[in-house]
Amino acid sequence: TSNQMWGGRFAAGPDAIMEAINASIGFDQRMAAQDIAGSRAHAAMLGATGIVSPIDVEAIRKGLLTVLSEIETGTFAFSTALEDIHMNVESRLTEVIGTPAGRLHTARSRNDQVATDFRLWVRDQLDATEAGLVALMKALLTQAEAGADWVMPGFTHLQTAQPVTWGHHMMAYVEMFSRDLSRVRDARRRMNESPLGAAALAGTSFPIDRHMTAEALGFDRPMANSLDAVSDRDFALEFLSCASICAMHLSRFAEELVIWSSAQFRFVTLSDRFSTGSSIMPQKKNPDAAELIRAKIGRIFGANVALMMVMKGLPLAYSKDMQEDKEQVFDAADNLMLALAAMEGMVRDMSANRDSLERAAASGFSTATDLADWLVRILDLPFRQAHHVTGALVALAEKKGCDLPDLALDDMQGVHEGITEAVFEVLGVHNSVASRLSYGGTAPMRVREQVARWQEILG
Ligand code: ARG
Repeated sequence: TSNQMWGGRFAAGPDAIMEAINASIGFDQRMAAQDIAGSRAHAAMLGATGIVSPIDVEAIRKGLLTVLSEIETGTFAFSTALEDIHMNVESRLTEVIGTPAGRLHTARSRNDQVATDFRLWVRDQLDATEAGLVALMKALLTQAEAGADWVMPGFTHLQTAQPVTWGHHMMAYVEMFSRDLSRVRDARRRMNESPLGAAALAGTSFPIDRHMTAEALGFDRPMANSLDAVSDRDFALEFLSCASICAMHLSRFAEELVIWSSAQFRFVTLSDRFSTGSSIMPQKKNPDAAELIRAKIGRIFGANVALMMVMKGLPLAYSKDMQEDKEQVFDAADNLMLALAAMEGMVRDMSANRDSLERAAASGFSTATDLADWLVRILDLPFRQAHHVTGALVALAEKKGCDLPDLALDDMQGVHEGITEAVFEVLGVHNSVASRLSYGGTAPMRVREQVARWQEILG
């Protein structure tokens, strides 16, 4: 049997393989609520402009509510033969209300319908991403406030560099996630225009009111060009780009948590609630959530690249290629939300091991820079010479198998006679971090200022 939507020019129905490659209902049913919201807005507009009679519009409105509740309660029977969510809904509407259902598609195409539904769906995800980021930032702020003056090693090349504060390290991620947040907000602002009423591609001769439907759906305005409205997916690509950058940040933090929770580091203890055990090794407590966050990032990047590849080179306006946009975005969105929530949970629950952090901060000659700076400040050595003297002291400590503060004053004076007892003050890690008072520096005082600033912004 031929299709009920376009059977007029067809003598035969589709091959089973055709149906299989063509159908999107398996995944686009996730946009059912958006599809019905779009149809309700469209129907109300058709009534207000006198294109469809008030009686038919009312029948459509009621019928759509029935269909929506069937979908919400799980009694709706989705059909692959009906290809996608748009035709599934319209077909069921016809069963429920009869002839008036046929008027709903006046001045509309599935092309503007799918563009509208998908925009609404992506807009919700941008909002959910925003909420997830804010929650994560708050969890990081709590950690930062508690440990504003806890000392830990700061690394470059994953080699001990200089002592930093735990709070400073947490706040570095707050800054990163705040930029993710602003990218998400920016993308939402740009994408919030309505494609509805573009019809198939050229607009319509019916006297529709696109401003009315745009407003009803919470869009700021209708899209200005009907060809663009049905053929653009850059809003989805922006979501995937924002998601990718955010995911990249998440993966770096996840990697740090994996390293930090190892027996060799012991910087943090992850909660039982966010860890797993081993079926064979009784002592194990594994950071699986962090590892999975680290890994899920790959599929989010993959989705971004995949949709870029789908869209590249497509001539205007709509091509069926574009149906391949949704699964990528759905998968990326699901995994981003999960990763954000898991990261927030881990950060809320984890406890930093203050003593391990401090012990690690003091090892690896982490205050060598402080010593060099002291030689410049107190003995007025040129920095290059101070660097050289300090290097010799580090070599001496290494030879003796001790850290810089463990060297005897005599030994130090053997390297440079000007060194005095006062040097030991700058060799301590707490003095080291407290001295880093420059704007944006690691001093506890600066960290507390950053925390207070973000607490005020996030409320
Ligand atoms: N299922 C289609 C999609 O997801 C809807 C639009 C179909 N339009 C068309 N002219 N075949 O893109």
